[in-house]
This record gives sequence, structure tokens and C-alpha cells, in this order.
Amino acid sequence: MKINGKTKVCAIIGDPVEHSLSPVMHNAAFKELGLNIVYVAFPVKTGMLKDAILGARRLGLLGLNVTMPHKHAVIQYLDETESTAKAIGAVNTILNERGKLFGYNTDGKGAMIALQENHVDPEEKKMLLLGAGGAAKAIAFQATQETGELVVLNRTEERAKQLAELLNKTFGTKVTGRTLSAETLKEELETTDILVNATSVGMSPNVNTSPVPADLLHSGLCVMDIVYNPLETKLLKDAKIAGAKVVSGLEMLLYQGAVAFEIWTNCPAPVDVMKKVALSKLAEQGVRP
Ligand code: ATR
Repeated sequence: MKINGKTKVCAIIGDPVEHSLSPVMHNAAFKELGLNIVYVAFPVKTGMLKDAILGARRLGLLGLNVTMPHKHAVIQYLDETESTAKAIGAVNTILNERGKLFGYNTDGKGAMIALQENHVDPEEKKMLLLGAGGAAKAIAFQATQETGELVVLNRTEERAKQLAELLNKTFGTKVTGRTLSAETLKEELETTDILVNATSVGMSPNVNTSPVPADLLHSGLCVMDIVYNPLETKLLKDAKIAGAKVVSGLEMLLYQGAVAFEIWTNCPAPVDVMKKVALSKLAEQGVRP
């Protein structure tokens, strides 16, 4: 691609951003579709967010991805925020439309599309979601609308209950929030179709840990992990051995990026190309399938 006077710019802002996979994924996608857009990473420290957003506005950046620690704080600087992102309290994608900044959260949609693209239809199914942090919240908001039943388990029970309450208040659903323990896992997993790990358990360097005892996993499950380092977590290894279907954390990362790409360009994202470059970048960082 030739950079010229008409090249548009997208960027990720956060701290740190150096190891983000988004620049390689989006640049490969822009190139594949012949779009005159480049994607760069800007490290932005906490106190600099307001100025960074003003800069993005004044320079006419096309779009931004927002990562830690700015996902919540950025909302106050936007013109409009999609209702789900507002309810979650986190924006990870911004579109600049003729100087107006619109905020979105593509994490939950990314997770649900990852399931569908892997031939898992959540409709009428029971999902057991582990975790109640930022990632879990985004997934829960989408899953509540797309599954038959949702149960949230979290190490800190209070956070699971608060998330369930927020969902029930927002959607009029009957989501339950419980503590994450061997007992609750045993009870819930028997009737679960889709298990999603949205905790950080199993992430490198703690690769030999799993949030679920292996003997509770069964062949009727689809197990998705949001951890993508390692690509095959202990949970996914155990799930495979139990005969369950598995979906790796790379899929959610890929589809949250694909949704952002579509918001900026109005073009379907070339996900195969994005996946290929994300895998090579991970391999460079020592993360292999
Ligand atoms: P993120 O925004 O990436 O979701 P987070 O908000 O810090 O990060 O949430 C991390 C999640 O992993 C939380 O659900 C956390 O449980 P607590 O709410 O009890 O802290 C969960 N988590 C982290 N370490 C864990 C561990 N060793 N065992 C069980 N859950 C863990």
C-alpha cells in the first residue's frame, strides 16, 4: 500500500500497547481490501487521555481502539456511546464521523460471533460464564440477549451477584450469579451447553492452571477461553480430552477486531487474513498453537 495525501489513520491507544495484535491484523485487512488506511499504536498514559482524544479529533483520525487503562474513562470524552457500551461502562472502539466521536464495545459481539463461526448456536442454550471482570461483563451483556440461560460464576461472589443483578435490571432476565467453586461448577456444568472462561486463570506464565477441575468437563460441552496466551490453555486441553468442542481465545480477539473493522470501513472484514497474521505475530512473541 502506498501512503499518500489521502491516507486515513486508525490507531490503538492504551498503556502498554507495544504487544497488541491489532496493528498487524488491521493493516493486513486494509491491504487485502485495497483500502487507503493505516493502523498504528499510540501509548497513552493515564493523565494524557483527554489530550489524546482531542488530538484524534483535531487530526481527523478515522477510528480508534481503546485498551487498558482507558476503556471506561474515555466515555466522558465521546459525543455518543452505544447503549450496551454505556451500560458495560467500557468502550473499545471509536468511530470518528465528520468530527463526531461514537463509542462502541465489540468484545461481547466478538465472543458471540466467535461461537457462531465455530458452528455453536447459542440460541436456547445454557451458558456458564466464569468471571465478572471487564471482559466477562462485555460477554455477559451480549450472551444474555442471545442464549436461553446464563449463569455467572466468580471467585468473588459479590461481583457475580452484582453483574447478574445489572443484567436482570437491564434485560428483565433471570441470570444468576454464584461463587466459583468445585461445588457450584459441578452443579452447573451438568446442564451447561457452553462454558466460557472470562477469568485470567490459565494465562501465561500460569499455564498449568485451569478454573475447572478436568473431571467435571464432558463431551456435551463447547468450551471457549478468552485467554489466548497460550493458544491452547489447560482448560482447552482438558476439554478436548473430555471430548468437548473447543474455541480458542484468538477467535474472540479476531472477531472483536472484525466488528471494529466493519464499523470503520463498512466492509466485511477479511477474517482469514487477519487470523493468519495474528498467528504469525503470536509465534514471533513465542506463542504457538
Ligand atoms: P478483565 O477486564 O480482563 O476481565 P479483571 O476485571 O481484572 O480483568 O477481571 C479478572 C477476572 O478474573 C475476575 O473475574 C477475577 O475474579 P475476582 O473478581 O474474584 O477478582 C478473575 N480471576 C483472576 N484470578 C483468578 C483466580 N486465581 N481464580 C479465580 N478467578 C480469578
